[in-house]
Amino acid sequence: MSQLLWLAALLKSQYFSSVPVPNTSFEGQTTIVTGANTGLGFEAAKHFVKLNASRVIIACRNLEKGEAAKKAIEGEAKRTGVVEVWQLDLSSYNSVKAFAARASTLDRIDVLLENAGISTSKFSIMEDNESSITVNVVSTFLLALLMMPKLKEMSKKFNKQPHLVIVSSEVHGLTDLPERKDPSGDIFATLNDKSKAAMSARYPTSKLLEVLIVRAMVEQQMQPGYPVLINYVNPGFCRSELMREVGLLRQIVYLFLNARSTEKGSRTLVHASQAGPKSHGQYMSNCAVDVPSAWVRSEEGRKTGERVWKELSRKLEGIEPGILANL
Ligand SMILES: NC(=O)c1ccc[n+]([C@@H]2O[C@H](COP(=O)([O-])OP(=O)(O)OC[C@H]3O[C@@H](n4cnc5c(N)ncnc54)[C@H](OP(=O)(O)O)[C@@H]3O)[C@@H](O)[C@H]2O)c1
Ligand SMILES: *[C@@H]1O[C@H](CO)[C@@H](O)[C@H](O)[C@H]1NC(C)=O
Ligand SMILES: *[C@@H]1O[C@H](CO)[C@@H](O)[C@H](O)[C@H]1NC(C)=O
Ligand SMILES: *[C@@H]1O[C@H](CO)[C@@H](O)[C@H](O)[C@H]1NC(C)=O
Repeated sequence: MSQLLWLAALLKSQYFSSVPVPNTSFEGQTTIVTGANTGLGFEAAKHFVKLNASRVIIACRNLEKGEAAKKAIEGEAKRTGVVEVWQLDLSSYNSVKAFAARASTLDRIDVLLENAGISTSKFSIMEDNESSITVNVVSTFLLALLMMPKLKEMSKKFNKQPHLVIVSSEVHGLTDLPERKDPSGDIFATLNDKSKAAMSARYPTSKLLEVLIVRAMVEQQMQPGYPVLINYVNPGFCRSELMREVGLLRQIVYLFLNARSTEKGSRTLVHASQAGPKSHGQYMSNCAVDVPSAWVRSEEGRKTGERVWKELSRKLEGIEPGILANL
């Protein structure tokens, strides 16, 4: 029943919502977009360039693809000397650390748009953990926390909150994290156990974890007035390379769900990157503040979020001792 309601809401959004073309100026701003060589990140970076950003850093795991993207963006936006390609591979914590160290030397950052992500039904290991969890969750928040001191510094320096945007998805509403009931009591360990892994639900699960984590962080450490504005955004269902593992079925799903172009989807990312203080800690969908799933908002969802955040904090401390003090 709840899945049918979810589908009805998705169809309504896909067929009847409008997402305006962004037109606010990013003049003078420096924006960072992860996973920007293709898909939504590429289109968002292009918007930033068209909207007069001074510096747009596209963080890519493959520099060759990054350079090709830079050329395409500069050609289409008819501006050069704005885009820079920086190496970032979220499957390696060392790469995340190196990227954060480099980004911390920038004289200005207005937007950190954490867009890179994967969807896979194959269980594989990256940094000792299941790949979707490593890339979409652990590395995403590792980067966020490593950048926090710099973002706070920017807030002081320019007297304006920088934006930290986490790209999530409406598919977070497809699961209520059954792993929370595992007798081990350890959600991440359960997710990393191949014998217990429900990989068909793994992508939605990773997107739900992002939602729970942002909400717990905001509730516990980043209350309104915090120097950095964080929000999480649903781009809607788009034709990108995300479903690269899926064959012919993909085209049918695109048609049935009236999939958006990545340009259209990227408008929501750009919107979240300049949304006002009312967007802090909020779920952004169709260029407006919305609410995440009913389960996320339930008491069980809140408690689960606390647990997930506690577990992730411990993990992040293991990767970078002292990192929690950055908040
Ligand atoms: N498309 C949708 O319908 C949809 C809906 C809701 C949410 N989203 C979210 O939107 C975001 C972007 O997805 P998309 O649809 O644009 O997918 P996409 O076309 O597959 O693009 C994903 C981007 O992330 C990069 N990436 C993947 N693994 C990485 C890693 N280990 N390190 C650094 N970068 C990595 C990819 O680089 P490579 O090209 O090198 O692989 C690519 O640039 C994701 O977070 C996704 O969950 C998408
Ligand atoms: C910018 O976009 C908004 C929303 O679509 C629209 O209402 C407004 O008229 C646009 N402004 C300009 C200058 O085009
Ligand atoms: C960007 O700069 C150009 C050239 O100065 C100007 O015509 C355009 O209106 C600016 N765009 C925005 C969104 O401010
Ligand atoms: C996952 O990564 C953490 C560090 O974040 C590590 O301690 C743990 O052993 C890894 N493997 C599993 C299966 O959790």
